[in-house]
Amino acid sequence: MIIINFIRQNTYFLLGLIIGLLTSLVFIPLLENDSKLSVLNENSYGEQKVIHKVKDDYEPQINLAGKPLKAQKVPQSFVRPRYFSTELGIKEKLLVSVLSSSTSIESNAIAINKTVAHLTEKIIYFMDTSTKLNISKLNMPDIVAFIDSRHILKPFHMFKYLIDNYLQEFDYFFIVNDSSYINFRKLYNIVRKISVRENLYYGEKIDKNSLYCNLNAGILLSNSILKSLANNIDWCIKNIDSDSNDINIGRCILHAANVQCISDSMGQSYSSFNIFHNSNVNYELQYLRKQPLFNNAVTIYPIIKEDYFYILHTYFTKKGLESDLGTIKELKKTIEKTSGKYPDLLRNLTWPIGEQPGNVPLTRFDILPWKYFTNTSLYLRDEFTTVSNHTDVELKDIQYVLNHSVEFINNKYSGMLKFEQFISGYKKIDLSRGMDYILHLDFRNLKNELVSKRIQVCKPLGKIDILKIPYVTENTRINIILPVQLRDVDSALHYLQQYKKICMDKKEKSFLMLVLLYEPHLPGKDSKHDIFKKLKDKALSLSKDFKRDNHKITWLSIKLPKNSNRYTHVHDHLLNFAILDLALKKFSVDSLIFLTNSYTEVYNDFLNRIRMNTIQGYQVFSPIPFSEYSPNITQHKSATIDINKNIGHFNVYNHDHISFYVKDYMIARNNIAHDIPQVHKDKDILNLTQHINLYESKHFDVLSENIVYMFRVHAPTLHLLKGTEPNLRVYYSHITCTKQGHDIISKELYERCVFLRNYNLGSRSQLSKIVLQYISKVF
Ligand SMILES: *[C@@H]1O[C@H](CO)[C@@H](O)[C@H](O)[C@H]1NC(C)=O
Ligand SMILES: *[C@@H]1O[C@H](CO)[C@@H](O)[C@H](O)[C@H]1NC(C)=O
Ligand SMILES: *[C@@H]1O[C@H](CO)[C@@H](O)[C@H](O)[C@H]1NC(C)=O
Ligand SMILES: *[C@@H]1O[C@H](CO)[C@@H](O)[C@H](O)[C@H]1NC(C)=O
Ligand SMILES: *[C@@H]1O[C@H](CO)[C@@H](O)[C@H](O)[C@H]1NC(C)=O
Ligand SMILES: *[C@@H]1O[C@H](CO)[C@@H](O)[C@H](O)[C@H]1NC(C)=O
Ligand SMILES: *[C@@H]1O[C@H](CO)[C@@H](O)[C@H](O)[C@H]1NC(C)=O
Ligand SMILES: *[C@@H]1O[C@H](CO)[C@@H](O)[C@H](O)[C@H]1NC(C)=O
Ligand SMILES: *[C@@H]1O[C@H](CO)[C@@H](O)[C@H](O)[C@H]1NC(C)=O
Repeated sequence: MIIINFIRQNTYFLLGLIIGLLTSLVFIPLLENDSKLSVLNENSYGEQKVIHKVKDDYEPQINLAGKPLKAQKVPQSFVRPRYFSTELGIKEKLLVSVLSSSTSIESNAIAINKTVAHLTEKIIYFMDTSTKLNISKLNMPDIVAFIDSRHILKPFHMFKYLIDNYLQEFDYFFIVNDSSYINFRKLYNIVRKISVRENLYYGEKIDKNSLYCNLNAGILLSNSILKSLANNIDWCIKNIDSDSNDINIGRCILHAANVQCISDSMGQSYSSFNIFHNSNVNYELQYLRKQPLFNNAVTIYPIIKEDYFYILHTYFTKKGLESDLGTIKELKKTIEKTSGKYPDLLRNLTWPIGEQPGNVPLTRFDILPWKYFTNTSLYLRDEFTTVSNHTDVELKDIQYVLNHSVEFINNKYSGMLKFEQFISGYKKIDLSRGMDYILHLDFRNLKNELVSKRIQVCKPLGKIDILKIPYVTENTRINIILPVQLRDVDSALHYLQQYKKICMDKKEKSFLMLVLLYEPHLPGKDSKHDIFKKLKDKALSLSKDFKRDNHKITWLSIKLPKNSNRYTHVHDHLLNFAILDLALKKFSVDSLIFLTNSYTEVYNDFLNRIRMNTIQGYQVFSPIPFSEYSPNITQHKSATIDINKNIGHFNVYNHDHISFYVKDYMIARNNIAHDIPQVHKDKDILNLTQHINLYESKHFDVLSENIVYMFRVHAPTLHLLKGTEPNLRVYYSHITCTKQGHDIISKELYERCVFLRNYNLGSRSQLSKIVLQYISKVF
């Protein structure tokens, strides 16, 4: 009504408004056109003027007739590759291709795999297919089988495969028949020393005047040769006229790249060694080892027995090792000699010569301590222990160092001193250098007198290897499982609030499942007075609010069979197994699960760390949280926990938090099922302790560590990563310990409970202060 009235009263005004709007719509484009026109005119006028003025024949004139006005190429945005090497075009050095066959792959190729594969960057075996052979049973990486079984064509199939797949990735390609032993150390030495040059067709000539290389002796091709073969493979196949692979390959390369086989390049000469077909390598090695031609050969062929590969490999490996040790000795001598000429250097000469000098402390806090030890114990292992026994490994280590020291003295005094006893020693670990020892030893001389010796020993670090770890991303969804008992309701509500802030508001990829543990005598799921009603309501309302983001909070109810007289306190310690067994049914096998409890404070950083540290089939992650001390003792009032030694500590005994993939859990769970039966329904919980013998303390570990224990002991292929985690913080919650039962396990559980309770009370200084206060009050 109001609107109609308004229209009626203002008819003329509205009419005027509409007309005004229409005219403006009609006129604006016209006006704009006008203005454009005038600008254009001005421009053309200006141009004419310029042409008039200069009138130069050489004045460039742009001819736009018939030319597209827009740039045809849309500039592509540059996608940065994952590795620098891809962008810079850096290639790997050497790819070894072994021409094998279905009859010899199981013997020769495997021997080559065992003697070469771990040294080279890449090795590929080429063969013909065979129905009898199951390739996946061989356990060899990179076997390529061609359906075409004509052996004459095999090299060309191989070339085609290499060109299609590896041309961009390697500088050199080494091709060899699988009946040749490859002295890879020598081969790599040669390849390392020749620079990447154009068109290298390198190997041993078939005979003196031949233009082609011998395939049995191995052929080294540069990347450029392979590239030029790319367009000529068809020609090569059409023009095969020999039964010999060497000649066919040679002709092909000659045609494609116009190069012939050479055996010398940049001072490196290539040679192979041809042993007699039926010679016994094991026997003849004693003669062969004296021949330089044999010792310098890159390949040795033909190898008629698999064993010969290994015999030759042992020989050449040993020789290589000797030569390396010789080189080290020489280098040391050179360092010594040079430093003699420069006293400055001599002062700084490290011992052992050439090793890392070790850490130089900047302040007194950086000094690495020498730790005193005797043959049985180690003193001051850490800040909390005075004396402790050596572990087995430490004992072995000491024995090993001792053996070497005694041997050294024996050599030095040519047996004049006899080892009597080990008195004591010091050791120091320096992560930039290795382990240093000082041993105090007693010897007896020929007159039966005691002679004391002090010996310093250094065990330097070896070559550092980079561990290869499967690739993971930060995109995985985290499924948090949060068990809640009656006493945890308040903290669980707090957790939900926190979860909303950390995960839902920030759109983390996550999912929360509450596992509600009902006690049989309390109002249950269908009752009005459901003990978890508040939690459920909160979960529902949050799920509703964040429905758009596909964020959900669900719950799973488990009824604890506590009314049965079979239920004991030991069951309580195994509930995590039941919770996970029942909850994980709702997840797919490749879900990432994080089991936690509600007394925690979480940060987004930590969630990403879970994603990075948990790797399917490889690693599970158990963070060591920062736990708050009792606020009554620390007088800490704030609601959040800061990382500070007066407020809490990293609690290494806390095993409550662990992340893993469902599949890994299933496998480990199966392995432990004979001790802890699987739980399929709530009633099965009673069966959890079926195989736990309360009088055997070996069962104690699984009760105290639970899931962590399962992964530690029953998942041999998984790594268990434990690490301090500053962004997982645990609120103090009071633990009550009650004595239950008189069996061994119950006693141990009680002791542990008391220990944990006390461990988490406060720092040593805070506790001692309280004790002193108490004493002064009482006395
Ligand atoms: C390798 O060489 C041996 C002996 O010269 C020959 O019998 C065999 O067929 C060759 N293998 C391949 C795959 O060319
Ligand atoms: C072949 O070598 C690779 C790499 O060193 C190794 O993983 C594999 O187990 C070897 N296979 C056999 C059958 O020796
Ligand atoms: C080959 O061996 C694998 C594993 O040993 C097996 O799974 C596969 O069925 C076998 N294939 C054939 C064709 O026998
Ligand atoms: C040797 O050590 C001294 C200090 O101890 C240092 O000033 C000097 O630079 C060192 N010389 C060399 C060659 O490292
Ligand atoms: C340790 O050394 C003492 C003498 O210093 C010797 O009596 C004792 O037997 C040694 N113990 C072991 C386990 O070697
Ligand atoms: C060290 O081992 C001995 C027996 O080898 C044992 O009697 C002693 O209690 C152990 N000491 C500690 C601190 O564990
Ligand atoms: C040390 O030498 C003893 C006897 O010579 C020997 O029994 C022991 O195995 C050696 N220990 C190590 C670690 O080499
Ligand atoms: C702190 O002390 C008060 C009273 O002394 C007690 O009621 C409370 O439970 C204590 N809090 C903790 C966390 O121990
Ligand atoms: C527990 O184990 C027993 C025998 O091992 C079995 O008969 C029973 O079905 C299992 N489940 C429950 C709930 O007791």
